[in-house]
Amino acid sequence: MTESLYRDHLATLQARYEKAMQHYQIDAIVLASGDKSYYFQDDHTVPFHAYSGAQQWLPFSLVAETYIVVQAGKKPRLVWPVRDDFWHAPNPVPAGEWQTEWEISPARKDDKWFSSLPTKCAWLGPQPPAFATKVEGLNAYVDFAKAIKTPFEINAIRLATKRAVKGHRAAKEAFLAGMSELEIHLAFLSASQQTAAQEPYPGIVGINNHAAVLHYEHKDPNRSARPLTLLIDAGASEHGYASDITRTFVRHDDEFSALVDSLDKMEQGLAHQARSGVDYRTLHQDTLTGVAHILNEHKICHLSPEEQMAKGIPQVFFPHGLGHLLGLQVHDVGGFQVDEAGTVRKDDNAPFLRLTRTLEENMVVTIEPGLYFIPMLLEKMQASIPQHGCDLSLIERFKPYGGIRIEDNVVVQDERPINLTRNEFQLDNPLS
Ligand code: GLY
Ligand code: MN
Ligand code: MN
Repeated sequence: MTESLYRDHLATLQARYEKAMQHYQIDAIVLASGDKSYYFQDDHTVPFHAYSGAQQWLPFSLVAETYIVVQAGKKPRLVWPVRDDFWHAPNPVPAGEWQTEWEISPARKDDKWFSSLPTKCAWLGPQPPAFATKVEGLNAYVDFAKAIKTPFEINAIRLATKRAVKGHRAAKEAFLAGMSELEIHLAFLSASQQTAAQEPYPGIVGINNHAAVLHYEHKDPNRSARPLTLLIDAGASEHGYASDITRTFVRHDDEFSALVDSLDKMEQGLAHQARSGVDYRTLHQDTLTGVAHILNEHKICHLSPEEQMAKGIPQVFFPHGLGHLLGLQVHDVGGFQVDEAGTVRKDDNAPFLRLTRTLEENMVVTIEPGLYFIPMLLEKMQASIPQHGCDLSLIERFKPYGGIRIEDNVVVQDERPINLTRNEFQLDNPLS
């Protein structure tokens, strides 16, 4: 099953790239995985992540200095690095059915494998050599198509979700047992079977007011005397494809847990709207309106949702975008592109929104609304929004909880979007 998914995936890529070569009148495209890079004045390398455009072609994690040559009507060619090196583990070409679809050329560092390439040959990836033909717009052309995932890619994201969900369950248990952020992160890594360097992005594990720091990457090794909230935003990878999942767990049934329930309900409603033809910018605006309703219902802000929207109150509590494309890159390429020519569309009303496209079937997107009590933004609101209508003493009570974010990964469909994250949480534990 996976083998046929991979074969079809490869055929789709070959067709996309042949169309691009025809469009730009070029005879070959080389995709380079990239080189290792070293920390300044050190002999340790930065964890390697292959250029996603090259990674997309293969069903295992690509190593550095690997090249793919694509030509019309030919099997793709994999130029595989052969190292004469006893310092590191050997690097054999991975075994598997996939090999039947490829021409494989092992090459040593100094081999001139590129001397046989056609003259009009474009290069995608880092460090294009002098012989490469510069093709303005080629990168945007191929990136645009990447938003639509093949069944093989959707399956990879599903498998990445499966592993991450195991981690989230372990993290929840560790939190309820009173563990520190560091211990919770280690529990997440162990259950999702990965090292920190293999995470698709540095996991965010924030207890209490740390949940109000959007990119909180520190892991406090000390246990909290009074843990209230855990916000964990952490994913896993499957040969490069990422899952990107956030959950907010609480320990008490109180006014904050009621807020979590409201946001959770809103999030599920938004995920359900991820259908073909929907402008993602509209979904973001719907989220702001939804946050305004929640603020009003929970008596955090006495203004009506319409008055709140006019004054920019929801943005004080929800200052980021609703989500983004998901794929080989966590914030996947092409989110601002409205066409294959590379025309970019930003949303002036939502400067942090990373996806401004109209949704199409088989795009994979995140849906990640939040509601936070961020001291800096609350102070700004008090200073700059007269008659903000917010109950400051209630807000003081909420500040120690930090905030809430709930993030699912959703496959856009014409009718019923597929919520990979919820599906996996349900499979894992039918009672949840
Ligand atoms: N974890 C990064 C994000 O949610 O976009
Ligand atoms: Mn996330
Ligand atoms: Mn995300």
